[in-house]
This record gives sequence, structure tokens and C-alpha cells, in this order.
Amino acid sequence: MPVKTIEWLGGKIRIIDQTQLPEQLIYLTIDRVEELAEAIRNLRIRGAPAIGIAGAMGVALTAFQHTEEDKNRWIEKLISTIHILKETRPTAVNLFWALDRMRRLINSTEDESVETIRDRLVEEALSILEEDRQICRRIGKNGAALIPQEATILTHCNAGSLATADYGTALGVVYTAVESGKKVKVYADETRPLLQGSRLTAWELKESGIDVTVICDSAAGFLMEQKKIDCILVGADRIAANGDVANKVGTYTLAVLAQKHRIPFYVVAPLSSFDFSITSGDFIPIEERSGEEVVNGFETRTAPTGIRVYNPAFDITPHELVHAFVTEQKILYPPYIKSISDIFGKNSPK
Ligand code: MRU
Repeated sequence: MPVKTIEWLGGKIRIIDQTQLPEQLIYLTIDRVEELAEAIRNLRIRGAPAIGIAGAMGVALTAFQHTEEDKNRWIEKLISTIHILKETRPTAVNLFWALDRMRRLINSTEDESVETIRDRLVEEALSILEEDRQICRRIGKNGAALIPQEATILTHCNAGSLATADYGTALGVVYTAVESGKKVKVYADETRPLLQGSRLTAWELKESGIDVTVICDSAAGFLMEQKKIDCILVGADRIAANGDVANKVGTYTLAVLAQKHRIPFYVVAPLSSFDFSITSGDFIPIEERSGEEVVNGFETRTAPTGIRVYNPAFDITPHELVHAFVTEQKILYPPYIKSISDIFGKNSPK
């Protein structure tokens, strides 16, 4: 069964500290927004839907903690919480989507009492969590229909229960396919430099009794060439209106290799990961992280001290390499400019 990656404990947030996995399953109880911002920045909680939920809960946290103050100051604190959380990570649109949803609620309830606004903010954060739970289930069901009766699936990073409120997006498809009796094996790319694939995906699939094998990222092409992979399932951090996808760095490489080997490459994501306001992947902000993660990861130095490092955390996969998007509503096929705009409305983004 999936783990509870994030929970609301009546005025506090409880998360799994994912930096400690797979060795230790440690829960952190968070009661200050600065602590939450640190947890998001340092990937104690990560994955696009999960950081959206965390952002929404962060606003509820502030709302809970300062009710004794003058109402205007309290509202200012809520707005400043939204700003602080928006600065944590730039790529996953779900964070901005969830924080904008909280902001709209603040705007529409401004005339109510502090207690009423606070209760509404908590309800909204909990709805975002509950919606995500149901979305994972619907995505899982839609995506499982694409999986053959016997399949070997390659995945990258972690788009499972540790990245969502339930059993994940890409891994939700795996869990649902297995539940429906399909024989599924998974290869998990280890996902350099922070190893979300080997630390997190391998951990949660193993805990759930799913057949999983870890490979070095650079082994993926060889496995495809050996016809060991039937399809590739990945999550997404942001999808532009034309279907270009930002996801964990290394995803683009897999998509190119998949095209060469004629292997279906599926992106599995909720509609909250689509950013219909931007026309292409050129406009998706790509997070650049510290070079220390590459050359001194997990406190082991693997390059000379002082060496120059470039460490983009995400890359862009152009839409023409994506076979289909699995969403909670339906499976979207090319041309994406049409199938995405059919869902989000007829007007093209500016
Ligand atoms: O840096 P991370 O671990 O937050 O990156 C996560 C990913 O790239 C996931 O594939 C993506 O957020 C989808 S999670 C359902």
C-alpha cells in the first residue's frame, strides 16, 4: 500500500523526510513555514503534486498560527507565506497552481472573520490533497489500459506515492496494472545526481512487492536495444500548451532513445501539471541546483575540489517524442496543440 507522504495534523504538517530513504523511514513534523520552505528546497518532500499539496498546507499552517494578530497583519502573513513558498522551486507548476488557488480563496473570503478564513484555507488544502488522491486513482485506471498483459516498464526519477497524495502518476499506472492481474516488471533508472529512482522508486515498489530492478541511467539505451523494455512511463513537472514536457533531467535522453527503438514513451500527469498559459517548453523555468549534488553527493567527493559543474535538475522533452499523455480525464494523443486546448479551452495561450 502507498505511504502517506504528507498529512495535515490539525495545525501541523507531517511529511516523510525523503532525504533519509531508503535507509530510514523518518517523519518530520513541521510547524513553521520557513521549515517547510527548507524541506521543499532540499527535497525532503518532492515531486510535483506533493509540493503543490505542501504549498497549500503551508498557507493553512500560517493561517493557524497567527490568529491572535490584527486581521490585516494576519492577511499580510498569509500573502508573504505564498511568496516564500513560490521561491522554493521554480519548475513544477503544481506548486504555483496550488498557491494561486489558496490566494484566490483569500481574495474571495477577505470580508469574513479570521476564524472562517482559516477554516476555509484548511479545507481547501485538504481538498487539494483529497483531489490528488482521487486523481492518482483515475490516472492509474486510464494508464493501465495501455499496459500489455505482460510488460517490462522503464521509469525515471520518482512519480509514485512519494511524489503524490496517493499511489502516484507513472507508478500509479504500474500499481493499477499489477492490481488488475497484469504481469509487470519495472526497471528504475537510478536518476543521477540525487538518486530518486534507486532511493525512492525502488524502495516504494519493493515495499509493495513489485518486481523492480535498478539500472544506471546510462544503461537505459542498452536495455532498449536488447528489446527488454515494452514501454516507458514518466511523470512531469510542467507541460506547455504544445505538449513539451519538463521532467527530471535525463527524461529527454530516454525519449530520444525510445524513438530510435520504437518504444512507446508515455507521460503520466494530472491536469494541474499542464501550464496552458505558455506556448512551448522554451518558456519553462529550469531549476539549476548546486554542483555539490553532482561532485559531492551523499558526502562522497567524486570530482576534484573546485571543479566547475553544471547541474540542471530538469530537461525538456519536445512534444513530438511523446506517444501520449495519461491524465485523470483521458489519454491525450497528438496533435497536442488540439487535444490540450480541447481540455483547457479554445483560446491559444499568449
Ligand atoms: O526533483 P524532484 O525529485 O522533485 O523531481 C521530480 C520529478 O521529476 C517527477 O518525475 C515529477 O515531479 C512528477 S511526480 C508525479
